[in-house]
Amino acid sequence: MEVFMHKLNKFLAIAFLATALFSCKSRNENTGIEYAPDMYVSKGYEPYSQTRHMAFNANGMTMRLPAVGSIARGQLDYIYTYPDSPEGYEASAANLNPVEKTEVNVLEGKKLYDVYCWSCHGKDGKNDGPVITEGKFAKPPFANYQTPYIQGLADGKIFHVITYGKNMMGSHAHMLTPSERWKVIHYVKSLSLTGATVAPDSTVVK
Ligand code: HEC
Repeated sequence: MEVFMHKLNKFLAIAFLATALFSCKSRNENTGIEYAPDMYVSKGYEPYSQTRHMAFNANGMTMRLPAVGSIARGQLDYIYTYPDSPEGYEASAANLNPVEKTEVNVLEGKKLYDVYCWSCHGKDGKNDGPVITEGKFAKPPFANYQTPYIQGLADGKIFHVITYGKNMMGSHAHMLTPSERWKVIHYVKSLSLTGATVAPDSTVVK
């Protein structure tokens, strides 16, 4: 009996060691045994359809529509509405540029301008972008950014125009966040006042 117990103990010890060593094997792709995997790996729901009918969600999607009046994170609670109020454009002049005019911000504005604006307004704000020169689009009523009209145009009004568009210029609100719009405006003003990019320390970085 004693011999048998001794053998059994030996066997159990080897079996334990083997199991322990086997479970310690480091193979990254092996997640091992998972108990209740739902607890740490959530089930994916289809946003545009319903996994299970939900009586209170009439639109038939898992994703809910935002509540009326919701403002997406990073977007502004903009008070100068348009076209609901035709006075919005005039009133927007009071909206001051909250973004500091630093070299970094002006250059970030340039980067965005060179993506979203140059095709019409041209690299230097001469209204000679390909969309205009190829005659696909009516020229803006001002000759270029260097005219006194743009030089004196309030930043807030430019923000308003980028947000809502004006006549032939469409809204760029979905392309630029509010802070990006203000940076582009710093760059537009740099082009307007000097014809080139001027950093605050007056180095021309054309
Ligand atoms: C598809 C061509 C097009 C693009 C792209 C475009 N604009 Fe314009 N923009 C126009 C036209 C046309 C006008 C003239 C609108 C009017 O007053 O009739 C204009 C007007 C303006 C004005 C004068 C606004 C005012 O109040 O009179 C500014 C400033 C301006 N654009 C800046 C920008 C900036 C910044 C961008 C890029 C974010 C941009 N535009 C992109 C065509 C464009």
